[in-house]
Amino acid sequence: MTDFRRVGILTSGGDAPGMNACVRAVTRTLIADEIDVVGIRRGYAGLIDGDFVEMDGQSVSNIVQKGGTILKCARSARFRTPEGRSQAAARLADAEIDALITIGGDGTLAGANLLADEHGVDVVGCPATIDNDLFGTDETIGYDTALNTAIENIDRIRDTADAHDRVFLVEVMGADAGFIALNSAIGGGAELVLLPEFNTDIEHIKQRIHSLMAAQARSSIVVVAEGEEMGGAPAIAEALKSDSAFDHIDLRVCILGHTQRGGAPSARDRVLASRLGTGAVKALLDGITGVMVGVVCNEIRYTPLSGITGSQKTINYDLLKLAQMLS
Ligand code: F6P
Repeated sequence: MTDFRRVGILTSGGDAPGMNACVRAVTRTLIADEIDVVGIRRGYAGLIDGDFVEMDGQSVSNIVQKGGTILKCARSARFRTPEGRSQAAARLADAEIDALITIGGDGTLAGANLLADEHGVDVVGCPATIDNDLFGTDETIGYDTALNTAIENIDRIRDTADAHDRVFLVEVMGADAGFIALNSAIGGGAELVLLPEFNTDIEHIKQRIHSLMAAQARSSIVVVAEGEEMGGAPAIAEALKSDSAFDHIDLRVCILGHTQRGGAPSARDRVLASRLGTGAVKALLDGITGVMVGVVCNEIRYTPLSGITGSQKTINYDLLKLAQMLS
């Protein structure tokens, strides 16, 4: 068992529902092992600035159910420079923090890997992003909640779309990955889904919408991933509207945007975040550092940080066929 006396914890990048549950799990597991916990506010930006707060069991009371992050998040340009990372490492040394647990997405984990590589910092990462685009874990913290939010909103859009016989292009988040789009399309019963992983065939979209209208569909929902190659729902809508065959089709765009990032975490995200937070502390205590903790096939797994950033998690093609077959 490795002897750590003070461990820092930060949340970084875009926030994700369940980050608080993870902060709570890390804090309480460390305290149970009589290790001091230092909260680092505003991610790597706060690390460079020394924006630290001592944490105790009470600091994380009543947060398991809350979206956002009590430690706040930031995307730090300074940390992307070698000088910024040197300042960050120096801050850790000054505050006698001997290990770091970082909670965030690909940028956060890439940063953690650099801190470990360049400055020998003992670091363990927890995957948290609504995009679910991280290798080494079946799901990331926040993804399930965001997916449920997307589906709930698609259901609402369906009501109004049906009432007016409209076609809606609903844009969902996910950066360059189509996990939210594909699964919300299945769960929301969308007629079509456009993913970043594939080329967009505008002629196919036109034909599909026309054949749905010809079949007297009351409404049609096209789920568009924000990373779709033409530029998302507004660009697709423009391309469709420029075709006179669409003059008589009542088309609307709805961008779900940051609504998908907020809200109370789902039960699944709370449990995942709690498992990953405690798993990260256990990794540290067992001397396993420079890794991301994930859950694969319902078991805790550690994957080297260097293997996370270079690897891509692929979407499930069977799910894509399912979406097409059921639409
Ligand atoms: O990575 C999470 C995410 O919400 C992406 O889905 C989205 O592209 C991006 O962050 C938005 O970032 P910001 O909140 O900085 O606009």
